[in-house]
Amino acid sequence: MRSPSPLALRCMEMRWALLTKKGYQEQDLDPQTSVITKLKGVSVTQIRDLGNRLWDVADFVKPPQGENVFFLVTNFLVTPEQVQGRCPEVTEGSSHPSIPLASCWADEDCPEGEAGTHSHGIKTGQCVVFNGTHRTCEIRGWCPVESGTVPTKPLLVQAENFTLFIKNTITFHKFNFSKSNALETQDPTYFKRCRYDPSSSPSCPVFRIGDLVAAAGGVFEDLALLGGAVGIQVRWDCDLDAGGSDCRPHYSFQLQERSYNFRTATHWWEASGVEARSLLKLYGIRFDILVTGRAGKFALIPTTITLGTGAAWLGVITFLCDLLLLYVDGEAPFYWKTKYEEAKAPKVTTSPEQTEQASTPPCPAAQGP
Ligand SMILES: *[C@@H]1O[C@H](CO)[C@@H](O)[C@H](O)[C@H]1NC(C)=O
Repeated sequence: MRSPSPLALRCMEMRWALLTKKGYQEQDLDPQTSVITKLKGVSVTQIRDLGNRLWDVADFVKPPQGENVFFLVTNFLVTPEQVQGRCPEVTEGSSHPSIPLASCWADEDCPEGEAGTHSHGIKTGQCVVFNGTHRTCEIRGWCPVESGTVPTKPLLVQAENFTLFIKNTITFHKFNFSKSNALETQDPTYFKRCRYDPSSSPSCPVFRIGDLVAAAGGVFEDLALLGGAVGIQVRWDCDLDAGGSDCRPHYSFQLQERSYNFRTATHWWEASGVEARSLLKLYGIRFDILVTGRAGKFALIPTTITLGTGAAWLGVITFLCDLLLLYVDGEAPFYWKTKYEEAKAPKVTTSPEQTEQASTPPCPAAQGP
């Protein structure tokens, strides 16, 4: 059998696409969505300045309300017991590669009242010994200044085994249809046991953090050390003609940043009446959950339009395809043969039998009505 040329295939595809593009459905592309998240897990961490400390959700999820954007602390740098005072500015080993104009030889190098964008306080006008031989400008601010050592090992490694529960409800107002990603089971303990897995349990909305980071294309240890951002996309594609039972979310994950941190502090009053604080530089994974959806349902008007334009397009495509196939395609002679029946005059031969047959009309195309 002769296989059709690529051009002929393309023509067939185009006609098929017209019929199957669901042009008979009305669409709702602007659903209303809501997301609630809950993280679970416990971690015990040994920190020099804080002792053996247990971390639970109240410590490592910020903000705690369960929003669609939140931050999971995986690492931190503590500067405990800072008080307002005077101390030398830090230059080397700083988290800022170097604080401009912090090093000095004499007091004249440190104009009083000056403060750069990256400095930790306001210069007092004095040049003081920072460590050993190195001298830096003295500042007025929270002292001692954050050391700026970059952590070498994540402190909350157990976060890899934490779980994230995403509850998501979507409403298509056009069709008065609403659905949640967590309603399909009668078993109340299902969400305590199940774990999302793209092949074995794609509809379980409980995600292990380590799996989630891996699915986004990240390495958990790296993200846990210096932070990062992961996007979780929840995509609903609902054909409501099928009753909405196959209207389920599909999850996908993207690594958006390979480093992320911010600073926060807890304040208290010391017995002496002095305000003190612990400064925390938090590294961790920022999760950003984005929900999108479309729903389609049979409706008369789109169907009429589709049928009308579809018929017109079918005519245009057929005409163009014929032109191309008959005049341009390499297989053109074959299409000529199949599209138009040949109306050839019979060959005149000498055989008496064939001469007899030739007296009958040669082919139907030659017959007039
Ligand atoms: C995560 O859990 C598994 C199995 O329960 C355990 O073997 C592993 O050590 C845990 N990982 C961390 C980082 O705690």
